[in-house]
Amino acid sequence: MVRKVTKAVFPVAGLGTRFLPATKSIPKEIMTLVDRPLIQYAIDEARAAGIEEFIFVTSRGKGALEDYFDHAHELENTLHKAGKNDLLELLRQTNMDSGAIAYVRQHKAMGLGHAVWCARRLIGDEPFAVVLTDDVVMGEPPCLQQMIEAHAETGGSMVATMEVPLDKTKSYGVLDIEEDMGAIVKVRGMVEKPKENPPSNLAVIGRYILAPSVMENLNKLKQGAGGEIQLTDAIADEIEEGRDVFGLRFRGQRYDCGSKAGFLQATVAFGLDRDDLREEFAEYLHDVLAMRKAAE
Ligand code: UTP
Repeated sequence: MVRKVTKAVFPVAGLGTRFLPATKSIPKEIMTLVDRPLIQYAIDEARAAGIEEFIFVTSRGKGALEDYFDHAHELENTLHKAGKNDLLELLRQTNMDSGAIAYVRQHKAMGLGHAVWCARRLIGDEPFAVVLTDDVVMGEPPCLQQMIEAHAETGGSMVATMEVPLDKTKSYGVLDIEEDMGAIVKVRGMVEKPKENPPSNLAVIGRYILAPSVMENLNKLKQGAGGEIQLTDAIADEIEEGRDVFGLRFRGQRYDCGSKAGFLQATVAFGLDRDDLREEFAEYLHDVLAMRKAAE
């Protein structure tokens, strides 16, 4: 029987250079889509998937992220006294149980693989999820839940994957497919950011379910592409050692909120998804586009 996935690692120790100067003082994960920080979307998705332990790999300058998870007692009291029960409820939904969150520190940004490896002692000998908060996925059921359900059938390790145009594969980890079973593909190999001859157009996005043996592979701390320690390499090693790796074509739309264009697209999509904003926002967008067209 496949062991239930109850732990998730959130690597949030990157430098976020693409969002300078904002990230000089604000962690990227605190930046907001409409009115919720990116980290809240990731936590909500993980909770919906049944995750019980949330492990953050943080770094210098991420204090605001840790503060975000403190209960805001004073604010809750004020809202309570003012009878603002809707806001109070909204705030309480973000509260985390004591002991559900753990922080480990990555002392130097040595890559995603290294960040995940920093959590090894908290993971132990069980499969675990990895969620990259800058990949925000709009989907129902949420992407990680789709993966955990699929993983319960397949076991092994699993990555979320989506089709991208071939000329965009150089920005992603790309799957080499052994068998295409529809929603699930069996993976023969993985290449990080292939400069040429991508093995497929299936790109890996920031959701993973990993066997504990991936930590052992990371232990070897090989230097992969770009001098950083790549998670992709450690997953590819699983296949070489005869263990199964699958890709799941998830249902939903992924936004790359680590890039400026992706963040703006997500802001539009999540704004239009909100009942309280849709009408006014859609009208505004419509007018802006009409004005642009008229000016051309
Ligand atoms: P990115 O490649 O987006 O890097 O990392 P970044 O540093 O966050 O942003 P840019 O490229 O400088 O703008 C993908 C994920 O891996 C984490 C990041 O926090 C992000 O969630 N990461 C990356 C680490 O935790 N540690 C690292 O050493 C590198």
